[in-house]
Amino acid sequence: MSRTAERSDYVRVAQLSDVQAAGCLVVHVRDHTLALFCHGDQICAVDNRCPHMGFPLNRGTVKEGILTCHWHHARFDLASGGTFDQWADDVPVFPVEIRQGEVWVDLAPRADPRAHHRQRLQDGLERNIPLVIGKAAIRLLYEGADPVEPFRLGLDFGTRYRQAGWGQGLTMLTCMMNLLPHLGAEDLPRALYHGLSAVARDCANMAPRFRVHPLPALTTDLARLKACFRRFVEVRDAEGAERCIVSAVCGGANHRQMADLLFAAATDHRYIQIGHVADFTNKALEALDRVGWEYAEPVLASLVSSYTSADRMEESAAWRHPIDLIALLEKAFEQFPRALETGRTRKGSWQNRDALVQVLLGEDPQAVADALLATLREGGSEEELASAVAYAAALRIACFHTSNEFGDWDTALHTFTFANAVHQGLRRVPSRELLRGVFDAAMSVYLDRFLNVPAARLPESDPTDEDTEMLLGELPALLDRQQQVNEAGSIVARYLHGKGKPERLLAVLGRMLLREDRDFHTIQTIDAAFRQYGLLRGTSAAVHLVVAAARYLAAHAPTLREQGQTLQIAHRLHRGERLFEPQL
Ligand code: FES
Repeated sequence: MSRTAERSDYVRVAQLSDVQAAGCLVVHVRDHTLALFCHGDQICAVDNRCPHMGFPLNRGTVKEGILTCHWHHARFDLASGGTFDQWADDVPVFPVEIRQGEVWVDLAPRADPRAHHRQRLQDGLERNIPLVIGKAAIRLLYEGADPVEPFRLGLDFGTRYRQAGWGQGLTMLTCMMNLLPHLGAEDLPRALYHGLSAVARDCANMAPRFRVHPLPALTTDLARLKACFRRFVEVRDAEGAERCIVSAVCGGANHRQMADLLFAAATDHRYIQIGHVADFTNKALEALDRVGWEYAEPVLASLVSSYTSADRMEESAAWRHPIDLIALLEKAFEQFPRALETGRTRKGSWQNRDALVQVLLGEDPQAVADALLATLREGGSEEELASAVAYAAALRIACFHTSNEFGDWDTALHTFTFANAVHQGLRRVPSRELLRGVFDAAMSVYLDRFLNVPAARLPESDPTDEDTEMLLGELPALLDRQQQVNEAGSIVARYLHGKGKPERLLAVLGRMLLREDRDFHTIQTIDAAFRQYGLLRGTSAAVHLVVAAARYLAAHAPTLREQGQTLQIAHRLHRGERLFEPQL
């Protein structure tokens, strides 16, 4: 509410006697509507729109210096505009001077509106109030803030105020940041709103996290810290593991070294926590790519409990029986050194991706492991292997038959997001330990084969001369209806084969995602599919990634769209619409 003294802008708005006679007088001046309240021997000038949802405050009541709005009963200190109800926001008040029987009001704007909206975002996060978060996101972007600014605030909040640390909320927020470059400008606040609200919900009523300090003598011996970290994770010692992370960061480890340390422990056991640990780790590193490495200590430390509390597939029946996949994998891992050594001189010459994908989708886990090892020997890189496995995992979704139980979409999704996380991790730092994650993902693709029995047919891949704009225009109405899975896959394939612009399609799919209520798994799927699409763009395989994304989205739409309703209110308020009046 503060204003810069040197930038006053006084305007004559009314006769003092008129205000005194009315008790409250509404005046329109420039683009403001002000309520002038006569209170004791003072005149108070207040913006007439209630900051909560825009009700005219001149219809409110003033008692004992408190102005109460008559819609949802938000209360404001008349003199300062400060609210007593944090869900409402402070109402702007304007300095008043009485000059020769006339009321003059200073209309100079707030000194720092962005600081105010940042504070409101913080208030919304702390109190888990989606409308406040939505309004702050819209206003910050409108005031010219870089989306990284609210993202950083949400990241800082989420890593601080949830004892369990990194969870679904921060993952969704980071997915939303990844999606921003694909979205239309009007959808940017919607993406931030969803991500930030997810963080607020995750932290609501949670105990905060308390910082673990680094070892007193900072060490640069990362190999030792890495070994200690893996040992502590092995015995589920969260505090010991966290001290290793913060000591490594404070000792100067960079993002590649930390990725190496973390992903090693994330793959010391098989497919831990159905891939969430690797996915959260990848997302935390992607978040740091955006906000800067100076946030590495709290962000990476927040991952630790996901590591130490994770289920391990060594304890899962499906991974032990009828084929002991764990034993099969351990034997394969023993062959890494020789396979990598053999392939070293042939790097860049491997070209059998399609054949490898066919084996990955087959019925024989030993053949899968053998094919992956053969690829390494033939010069295929760790990243190329990971890319092929991620693509095979996406095909499980692209060919997911709707006769499966609905919950099985999640099974296919978990494998795909894990495979994507491993792939992104290997792109960051090729690591022999993380290479095990590629084999784990491949085994999970094998275990998911029942989801493609029978298999849904992939859409035709012939070029078409259909009107691609018309195809794109069909998507919103299609996703208004339940279970239009195959139709959605068909439309996006025909659009891309018809030479429609991929950017337009991804923007529309992003918009379709954002208009639904938040679903953690759908957000993960779209993010992973867009990431993989970006890496394969220009190939026929890339189309299948968008098909997978569209099918998953169609399976989970429409929702109630309740959260979008809240943001719609925020948008209408921002545009100055009168919510309290019936819409024509
Ligand atoms: S309390 Fe004023 S509009 Fe809701």
